[in-house]
Amino acid sequence: MEFREEGEGEPVSPTGQYFNSSILSVAILAVLEFEVPFNDSQALSLLQDVFLPINPRFSSIMISDKADQKKQWKRVEVKLEDHVRVPIFPSNMSPESYDEYFDNYISNIAAERLPQNRPLWEIHILKYPTSHAAGTLIFKLHHALGDGYSLMGALLSCLQTAQNPSVPLTFPSLKSSSGPKTTHMTKTVSQFFSSVFQTLSDFSWSILKSSFVEDDRTPIRSGEDGVEFRPITLSTLTFSIDEIKLIKNKLRVTINDVIAGIIFLGTRIYMQEVTQKSSNERCTALVLLRTRNMEGYLSTKEMIEPNNANMSWGNQFAFLHLPVPKSSETLNPLDFVWEAQKMIKKKKSSAASYLTSWLLDVLKKFRGPEGAARYIHGTLKNSSMTISNMIGPVEKMALDNQPVGGLYFMVVGPPQCLTVTALSYMGKLRVAFGAEKGFIDSQKLKASMQNAFGIILEASNPIPPAKAA
Ligand SMILES: *[C@@H]1O[C@H](CO)[C@@H](O)[C@H](O)[C@H]1NC(C)=O
Ligand SMILES: *[C@@H]1O[C@H](CO)[C@@H](O)[C@H](O)[C@H]1NC(C)=O
Ligand SMILES: *[C@@H]1O[C@H](CO)[C@@H](O)[C@H](O)[C@H]1NC(C)=O
Ligand SMILES: *[C@@H]1O[C@H](CO)[C@@H](O)[C@H](O)[C@H]1NC(C)=O
Repeated sequence: MEFREEGEGEPVSPTGQYFNSSILSVAILAVLEFEVPFNDSQALSLLQDVFLPINPRFSSIMISDKADQKKQWKRVEVKLEDHVRVPIFPSNMSPESYDEYFDNYISNIAAERLPQNRPLWEIHILKYPTSHAAGTLIFKLHHALGDGYSLMGALLSCLQTAQNPSVPLTFPSLKSSSGPKTTHMTKTVSQFFSSVFQTLSDFSWSILKSSFVEDDRTPIRSGEDGVEFRPITLSTLTFSIDEIKLIKNKLRVTINDVIAGIIFLGTRIYMQEVTQKSSNERCTALVLLRTRNMEGYLSTKEMIEPNNANMSWGNQFAFLHLPVPKSSETLNPLDFVWEAQKMIKKKKSSAASYLTSWLLDVLKKFRGPEGAARYIHGTLKNSSMTISNMIGPVEKMALDNQPVGGLYFMVVGPPQCLTVTALSYMGKLRVAFGAEKGFIDSQKLKASMQNAFGIILEASNPIPPAKAA
């Protein structure tokens, strides 16, 4: 293997620097659930032969030049054993008891910071059966390595289809599932912004200065300092994509609108349950949008193709600020979906509600990367939750011939009490909630979201009244 000379390393992308700054450290947990007990005898060789070659950043550490705050990736020799952890729990317990061990374990790794002196990823192999899976693999990847699409693409390219291991996974086109109209619109809007903001940076500077007003303190937002260091509880729900499509088609909206609507209604139901009164507090969700001009995930081969390197690997994002509709203003549960649709449409065309890499670049110019990171931290802290959603494979996949039954991810480290993610896989949408332990009642939150889904499904597909004979 060739090592670059020190000083010649690739610079860390601006977004990568924000995600690993003195104020922010954000990582992604990707959880793979196996149908049979996971055999890890091949784990190290798989990592060496399949995972590491995907991107040089998986074998690099971040070094900083003290003088000008600039950070660079530096290739190092990877000691794989340091990156793989196989916890030991007591043996011969029931899946329900292992659930508890699992929850505590994941809560711990969510709170831990990745050590700075080796590449910023880890793998945890849990060999005990829980009520969800016979064995579980958790990838922990620092967000500075890349955005969700790059990292998910990297993970998926380590896997094959379960039916025929020699066939690599076909990657879903992001275009077809989110609806061609939306994708087109996102792209056009992004292109528009990229050209306008390069010339009008003074204008965007004024947008950044006029920060948005802080959300109210609610059962999902404590408003306290340092919530990013508190332990979280990770829980998940599964919805059928067919049922979500049923709602989508009836209401003529996008899948994203339906997901946002369910989460909005579920949030209000939860807050109402906790406070025992109608929920009308100011509550904003930051919805993560993909801004890269990519039609879908690329496979490993495409990713390491030098010509694709700039295009396929990135750390680009845009946040939309979406106010969660108030209970008093929504008479019909479907309003939560229509409101989501209306706001997403409107906000996409309004510069002030966008927080993009370009705007942050402007901020970086004025205040340096640490200043931009403080701004992102402030934006996250002032809002109540972040929602991000991604599309996963349609067919069943396998790792080293071991079939994967379930898949979800979580973003850890943002200064918020609640983070929601959604990932589709094999006709199911897995929604995961990262909620502050001891502050948010995860069971009640899940029940509220499930309830919201049922209410919206029923309201959009009312059973026709029986015709009088
Ligand atoms: C990120 O960067 C800061 C300083 O810029 C450093 O102190 C910290 O240890 C880094 N690593 C992680 C994983 O957050
Ligand atoms: C794990 O896999 C290896 C080779 O792939 C095999 O030799 C070994 O018997 C397997 N172990 C179990 C417990 O199935
Ligand atoms: C967050 O809210 C506080 C108080 O309302 C405000 O002073 C600050 O500028 C806000 N920050 C951002 C980044 O919106
Ligand atoms: C990738 O981007 C860098 C810096 O922006 C540039 O120097 C390099 O030529 C690009 N590589 C390709 C293959 O486009």
